[in-house]
Amino acid sequence: MHSDPKRLQLSPEEMRQAGYQAVDLVVRFLENLRELPALEHAGRIELGSLDEAMPAKGRPFVEVLARLDADVLRSMARPVHPRFLAFIPSPGNFIGAVADLIAHGHNVFAGSWLEASGPSMVEVVLLEWLRKLVRMPDSAGGVFQSGGSMANLTALAAARQTRLGEDFADATVYFSDQTHSSVERALRLLGFARKQLRKLDSDDDYRLPLEALKEAVSSDRAAGSRPFSVVANAGTTNTGAVDPLAELAAFCRQHDLWLHVDGAFGAAAVLCEEGRALLEGIEHADSLTLDPHKWLFQPFDCGCLLVRDRRHLLETFTIQPEYLKDVEGSLREPNFWDCGPELTRPFRALKLWMTLQVFGVDAVSAAIQHGFELARVAEAHLRTLPGWRIVTPARMGIVSFRHEPAGRSEEDLNRLNRDIGRRITESGFAVVLSTVLKGQTVLRTCTINPRTTREDVIATLDRLHELAARATASR
Ligand SMILES: Cc1ncc(COP(=O)(O)O)c(C=O)c1O
Repeated sequence: MHSDPKRLQLSPEEMRQAGYQAVDLVVRFLENLRELPALEHAGRIELGSLDEAMPAKGRPFVEVLARLDADVLRSMARPVHPRFLAFIPSPGNFIGAVADLIAHGHNVFAGSWLEASGPSMVEVVLLEWLRKLVRMPDSAGGVFQSGGSMANLTALAAARQTRLGEDFADATVYFSDQTHSSVERALRLLGFARKQLRKLDSDDDYRLPLEALKEAVSSDRAAGSRPFSVVANAGTTNTGAVDPLAELAAFCRQHDLWLHVDGAFGAAAVLCEEGRALLEGIEHADSLTLDPHKWLFQPFDCGCLLVRDRRHLLETFTIQPEYLKDVEGSLREPNFWDCGPELTRPFRALKLWMTLQVFGVDAVSAAIQHGFELARVAEAHLRTLPGWRIVTPARMGIVSFRHEPAGRSEEDLNRLNRDIGRRITESGFAVVLSTVLKGQTVLRTCTINPRTTREDVIATLDRLHELAARATASR
């Protein structure tokens, strides 16, 4: 095999060199992570050198890599950074990244059993492992997807198809105001009008209140609507709140409602004892979103959906055009293109499979437990700092808190807290951002990265405290 740029071919030696150089770049990045800013960003003007005509001729890989390092990879957030504590961070892991290289190097087409029986078997086995972890019945199955948004969409498409059929203008669906926006977007994409969505106020603990749900369902029924689904949270993005899953499941069963549980972030916590106790009842879900690219430490993208009866996915998504007739799947040997909206799909399951093979599940569950512990460290430390109020205590790796110096208006406090988050994020030391809870702007940390240490958490909170003092003095 020779180098032949006209056929986009490299010689084996050139491929090795390119691979080694790329691996060196990534390892250098991971080695120096703690010293790098957690986020760097630039405007279009500063990034102007990238705005060029399409290159007619190629240049050496090593030059392209150096430019990528200097001009592109410096201007972005680093969600794997130990002090990136905003949103739901994606801590990633190196084996997952290498698995992606292997999957893409082989360009695995993971759509059908015929074209990818080995990879499909890995996906089937992983889905079985996850099914058993969340204690869903044997009938359950699922599909790996790009993330929580796609998994929520796929689940709700199956719920709509199974419970409503083609005609659903009178159907209603219920969820709390803490539900991730991807649920509302999915429902809109599926053709539900806003008036069919019942967004219920969460209770003082940011959970879906069962009594309010009961009332809403019964008054909708009395008014001639068709309640068909409840979307519950297994770890909200804002505060890590877990809706009362067991009670919701009992209610849904009694009223023939499809219970979708969005555990994109939190469901992985079933891997440790503390999380399993919090997620009691998750096994009753009709469908469950669980994102390995969050608390199962996979690089983007890696989402997953489990459905209590896997036939519901097949019934919703199987369409057999003439050009796919030779490639029919079955329940035992599924074509994953029949389980969701994607036909061409990458081998996403490989990274989680390799991570579990290399590190073992005990290490993964200890890494999840670490997230719980760090949130407690954050809460305890905040309680020692004057002027801070814990808004929601450590829960599923998340704490929310607010700086409240005396004598300030609510509006002023909202601005102040947003400002503190912006200042620390712009400094690059850590990424901590705000959210709004019951009308108040608060800061939050989500400490699910196993690279994060106790010292990182304390140093970040001390830095927030200093910035708060400076911001307060300048007002
Ligand atoms: C609870 C929850 N659901 C859904 C999503 C959407 O997931 P994704 O960004 O992978 O599409 C998120 C993202 O953070 C989330 O926290």
